[in-house]
Amino acid sequence: MSDHASAKLEILPVPGLPEFRPGDDLTGAIVSAAPWLRSGDVLVVTSKIVSKAEGRLVRVPSDPEARDAERRKLVEQEAVRVVARIARTVITENPLGIVQAASGIDASNVAGDEVALLPADPDASALALRNGLRERLGVEVAVVITDTMGRAWRVGQTDNAIGASGLRVLHAYRGQVDGQGNELAVTEVAVADELAAAADLVKGKLGGTPVAVVRGLAIEDDGSTARSLIRPLEEDLFRLGTNEAIAQGRREAVPARRSVRQFADEPVDPEALRRAVGSALTAPAPHHTHPVRFVWLRDGGTRKKLLDAMRESWRADLASDEFTEEQIAKRLSRGDILYRAPEVVIPFLVPDGAHTYRDDRRNDCEKTMFTVAGGAAVQGLLVALAAEGLGSCWIGSTIFAAGLVRDVLGLDDRWQPLGSVAIGVPLESPPPRGEVSPGEGLLEL
Ligand SMILES: Cc1cc2nc3c(=O)[nH]c(=O)nc-3n(C[C@H](O)[C@H](O)[C@H](O)COP(=O)(O)O)c2cc1C
Repeated sequence: MSDHASAKLEILPVPGLPEFRPGDDLTGAIVSAAPWLRSGDVLVVTSKIVSKAEGRLVRVPSDPEARDAERRKLVEQEAVRVVARIARTVITENPLGIVQAASGIDASNVAGDEVALLPADPDASALALRNGLRERLGVEVAVVITDTMGRAWRVGQTDNAIGASGLRVLHAYRGQVDGQGNELAVTEVAVADELAAAADLVKGKLGGTPVAVVRGLAIEDDGSTARSLIRPLEEDLFRLGTNEAIAQGRREAVPARRSVRQFADEPVDPEALRRAVGSALTAPAPHHTHPVRFVWLRDGGTRKKLLDAMRESWRADLASDEFTEEQIAKRLSRGDILYRAPEVVIPFLVPDGAHTYRDDRRNDCEKTMFTVAGGAAVQGLLVALAAEGLGSCWIGSTIFAAGLVRDVLGLDDRWQPLGSVAIGVPLESPPPRGEVSPGEGLLEL
């Protein structure tokens, strides 16, 4: 395929077009205003006049405040999806997949009590105009229907093609070689958008010249339309606005945590683990205390010594329960995850600052209060690890071997283990919990 550029182009305004109203003959008006159209020309038409001729005008109150409210309602109505809300700007996707501010609805160049919606099917409008011009003038032109759009990463708006017929809207250079012998890997020029922007340089925005003709470009009709310019959702890395992405991340943070029991053979980023512990330590605690500690078993020898000792203690417990050897071996194998996991962190409750009362009842309550605070911190750790892309599983066994854990790790009696957390890069991403309906778990009294 050749270069898409031409040696020379002319961009000709089409002056003298009337103010369009619903039902007007747009093709006829263009035929009268530009009888000089030639085959090979690209007719570039502002979508606003197509909307008007096609009756896509909606009457709105002329009072500015009421008009604005009605316009906002229409923006939502015309959208299949709100992509982003930034201050008072709403970025939407319309049924054709066009992502634009305010669903392409604007109140410029229309009467004070009207707004114009985008044409319902601008590619079809472009084709109809092209066919009409062939019939009436005997010319084979390409048609581009334009609208003005902002750009995500650049200030200022440019015109883009929202409808097209009769031209190759995208010119791919992939695999071609430039003058220096470099193979172009990804370049794909949005020719229809470039035409839209170029024509705007003679059309302007103040309404006088809604149509221009680009002459001198070698147009090739490959049957493509402006729809081909819309990036498929699955290829859109920025399909959510920043605020929407943050909101979704927050909503999904808690259910994204699942128990992960199979880990990839990959190291855990120590900084990610430290960050997760830092988040976990923000959990609420009674009396403004800080009763939780996390012990990260970084030394493999210490970890094995502890797990071996716990295994023997568990074996003794199970034997006293009169389990068979086979049953005991099966149960003990459930602890293997702590040998296999790339990292193990043991959460402890150290309830310094807990109150002592004169009666057991209140002392028991105080104990429960601190224990639940420990649980909150551990859940915080698991959620924060999941947010870092790390899998984890909370394993209860150290709770049943508290003295032994303290002995092996050299900790004093105040340290109460709250289980262990096996941590690693998940072998496969666990499915999020999905929508959990409150069901029996929420009583609204
Ligand atoms: C205090 C506590 C102790 C747990 N102990 C174990 C355990 O010993 N072994 C294990 O595989 N899972 C253990 N779990 C994880 C639960 O089995 C798991 O949370 C449950 O199956 C729900 O699955 P999910 O975490 O993927 O939502 C424990 C969970 C908690 C809260």
